[in-house]
Amino acid sequence: MLEPAAPQLEPAFDAANQRVHVITHGCQMNVYDTHRILQVLGAAGWVETSDPTLADLVLVNSCSVRDRPEKKIIGTLSRMLPLKEAHPGLRFGVCGCVAQQHGESLLKKVPYIDIVFGPDRIADLPEIIAENRTGRRVAMTELDDPSDHAFLPVDPTVETGPSAFLTIMKGCDRFCSYCIVPYVRGRQVSKPAAVVVAEVESLVRVGVREVTLLGQNVNAYGKDRAGEPSFADLLARVAAVVGLYRVRFVTSHPADADDAMLDMFGSLPSLAKGLHLPVQSGSDSVLFRMRRGYDVARYMDRLARVRRACPGIALSSDIIVGYPGETPEDFEATMSLVQAAHFDSLFSFKYSPRPGTAAAKVKDDVPETEKAARLARVQSLQDSISARRMNGYLGSEEVVLVEGPSRFARVGGRGKLRTEVQGRTSTNVMVNFGIDRVAAEARGRLVRVRIDEVLSHSLRGTVISWEAD
Ligand code: SAH
Ligand code: SF4
Ligand code: F3S
Repeated sequence: MLEPAAPQLEPAFDAANQRVHVITHGCQMNVYDTHRILQVLGAAGWVETSDPTLADLVLVNSCSVRDRPEKKIIGTLSRMLPLKEAHPGLRFGVCGCVAQQHGESLLKKVPYIDIVFGPDRIADLPEIIAENRTGRRVAMTELDDPSDHAFLPVDPTVETGPSAFLTIMKGCDRFCSYCIVPYVRGRQVSKPAAVVVAEVESLVRVGVREVTLLGQNVNAYGKDRAGEPSFADLLARVAAVVGLYRVRFVTSHPADADDAMLDMFGSLPSLAKGLHLPVQSGSDSVLFRMRRGYDVARYMDRLARVRRACPGIALSSDIIVGYPGETPEDFEATMSLVQAAHFDSLFSFKYSPRPGTAAAKVKDDVPETEKAARLARVQSLQDSISARRMNGYLGSEEVVLVEGPSRFARVGGRGKLRTEVQGRTSTNVMVNFGIDRVAAEARGRLVRVRIDEVLSHSLRGTVISWEAD
């Protein structure tokens, strides 16, 4: 007869059926990384929960590009501290770019953070958790050597909708003066094109119809790896994948945006009609000090070229106001550029010094009130331009890729099935419309819709026809 096992004071940690709740800040790269975190944990038996009160691990996937990122993390986690009292097994973790930047010091500073790991350490997460369960708080933030960085393979089954992100490169070599990304994400490493294409094919097999290729500077794709195609050639290979309806990509850098890439918008039917081309400033002297590697004339030439290749393309951009030394005249030059460029949308930010960057060594001399006033002016100018561009959709016919039920979903009514669904135009504008079938049947389909109503950030329309699959 077996002896009964001795009672264990600390039950051995078993990952099976542990629950993780992830809060994602920052850019699409972090959204993509969150999927990889769920993939790695899923393989170890974890399940995702959208309810932090049910979680055994709460992770904040953080961003350090602006503002006070540490404060944001501490704010989020401190609000959840009562959950730790209710569930003593609950652990808090920080990953992403703030984790990479501060590493172990986050553990020292914030006593209730249990684990810290950087973007290159996602594959090590099961070991990090296991080590933490032995009672140690763990920080792991080594960046991979660019020569042997291995991208985590994509498990397409973690995708839940018809649209998916796909990282095609990591890091950035441009070192714009204000930007922390090269420090927290490391040097540029491109994913081999054959892997990119195979991953797109695997996504299409599970029903993905639109892929957004991700990189901090996708136009420099392949330049770090002998034998890889250019970004324009990679786009052509991805666009040729059968069953993929749309390809998008972010982010393009104006200095590296070559003619071949811009002209693709006129020749690849599945390349969605949208380009995000961050300009940052409309002043040549500010652009020079930002180390952006182009001037206003070159930037406007890029816009003109892509508009020639693809009339009606939706263009968007990023602006930083209040960069050190930005004079009122520099700022007026930015206003003129925004007026002339006629962007569909614009993301604008107040300059925020980032530790370790070149710009942080220069005095942050534009007062906060002036930054706020400049930001308000550029945003209000863009609001009127965006409104005009949105009004241009009225009465037009758009091909919409259906994502799923609309936020205002309503089903039924007078005995007839009526479902509200939402999807995006090729130019990436959200459209809501009613259909006479259940949302699941429409998801991932292309529908031709007439636009009847323009709201501030979305459109409403009526189905004209269903495109053939
Ligand atoms: N790789 C992209 C963008 C990376 S960060 C590119 O090259 O454009 C996204 C945006 O954040 C940038 O385009 C910039 O407008 C803004 N940004 C980056 N660092 C910033 C800082 N220190 N202060 C304010 N805004 C910043
Ligand atoms: Fe930052 Fe410049 Fe790289 Fe963009 S291109 S991530 S702004 S350093
Ligand atoms: Fe932020 Fe890191 Fe992306 S700093 S913008 S989450 S690469």
